[in-house]
Amino acid sequence: VDFEIVETGPSDFPAVIWPDLNGFGMVGLDDEKLVEYRTNFADARILGARADGEWVGTIGEYPFELTLPGGAMVPAAGVTWAAVLPTHRRRGVLSALMGRLLDDVAERGWPVATLLASEAGIYPRYGFGVATQYASFRCDPRHAQLRGDSATASSPVATAADPPPVRLVADAAQATALAAEVWERYRTTRPGLTTRRPWTWDHLARDPSSERDGFSGWVWAFHRDATGATDGYARYRMKEQERDGLPAGVLRVGELVGLTPAVEADLFTFLCGVDLIRTVELPYRPVDDPLPWRLLDRRQLVVTEMGDFGWLRVLDVAATLATRRYGAVDELVLEVHDGFRPEGSGRYLLRTGPREPEVERLAGSSPAPGGYQSLTETTVDLSLDVADLASLVLGTVAPSVLAAAGRLHARDPEVLARADACFRTGLAPFTNTEY
Ligand SMILES: CC(C)(COP(=O)(O)OP(=O)(O)OC[C@H]1O[C@@H](n2cnc3c(N)ncnc32)[C@H](O)[C@@H]1OP(=O)(O)O)[C@@H](O)C(=O)NCCC(=O)NCCS
Repeated sequence: VDFEIVETGPSDFPAVIWPDLNGFGMVGLDDEKLVEYRTNFADARILGARADGEWVGTIGEYPFELTLPGGAMVPAAGVTWAAVLPTHRRRGVLSALMGRLLDDVAERGWPVATLLASEAGIYPRYGFGVATQYASFRCDPRHAQLRGDSATASSPVATAADPPPVRLVADAAQATALAAEVWERYRTTRPGLTTRRPWTWDHLARDPSSERDGFSGWVWAFHRDATGATDGYARYRMKEQERDGLPAGVLRVGELVGLTPAVEADLFTFLCGVDLIRTVELPYRPVDDPLPWRLLDRRQLVVTEMGDFGWLRVLDVAATLATRRYGAVDELVLEVHDGFRPEGSGRYLLRTGPREPEVERLAGSSPAPGGYQSLTETTVDLSLDVADLASLVLGTVAPSVLAAAGRLHARDPEVLARADACFRTGLAPFTNTEY
């Protein structure tokens, strides 16, 4: 098909998001939602594909800041709203939109792009790799006691004379403002976390009843440290129900955020103490969540789901690798293959320490024809696709796991062990922010 790509914006809504309304089952959007989307896109970029005067494809981009291992932050383009009309699919419309969008982001000098994928098969061809993973849990709160010696900041079941360390904030605007302050500190504590758009908090404050799945509105619970300062929050919904005359309520956690693991443990204990609840659902937790390790009987926290959440695309290999921190001091030559943006292909000398890492793009490095054949040159330590590099940047997976999966080639096992030591991070990367 012949189509042109045009930069557009909220003033062209709803015509320009017609592909999204079809792609995401939202045809018949009410006016209130339309106003919400217009507002959300006020500081976003939107590209549309137009054929014969009709919008047939859309892609958008929000500005974020992404935390890398070591705590440094980089600007990241959060790719979103990618959809193509069912009448125009599989004709290269998404590829053209993505190509233009990534060109624009790279030209702006932003080193990475991120996205949340509706299907895992779509984005590797564009150089995106899995960057964060999650685990979801469920428990019967009556059997989910934590170890008595947990180093919690203050016990949520302290004596009656103590002010409770957890308080509820009923006013949604006040609650989201307070939560946003906690988030600003929390987002620096783990690789993969990002800033949130103001509309994320607005949406949580509005809490439309059509999106509650039969549950209550959000309840906001805030945790206070010994000085009274807020250092964590949980938001949750409840569904009251009975079975055989006994309480059988469900408490579904939206998120549990603490500035320390001890604060999260306190909040978890609080949630498990809510009356009439027999099931607590705790979705979207980091895969290295310490909570199961705190339980007296860890099998009470049943893993209901594990999966990928955030995807990453490295646009500037040298800048990205030089901005994160590493687990060991070493020198490695990486050969990166970038099929979608060949200008990113090349060899990079990475010096990981002792303080600031340095990355040098090696002279004469160019797309390696025939892929891994160039490994016969012993100077290359690791050879991999840019999508798999994305899974190393935040420390999502060890190089040796990628090698075992046939996705990365190392010069020899000793080099692979050194690469594992370098790319290792303290905490598993994580994100739970939808956009
Ligand atoms: C996913 C979607 C945007 C693809 O758009 P499209 O214009 O058909 O994609 P393209 O024609 O540019 O496809 C490029 C390549 O990706 C492949 N591809 C596209 N969608 C795919 C999918 N869902 N799974 C696996 N491969 C896919 C195509 O087969 C094509 O491969 P080829 O280059 O080897 O021929 C479109 O199908 C859609 O709107 N889906 C519903 C909404 C959605 O899921 N959007 C993504 C949100 S994260």
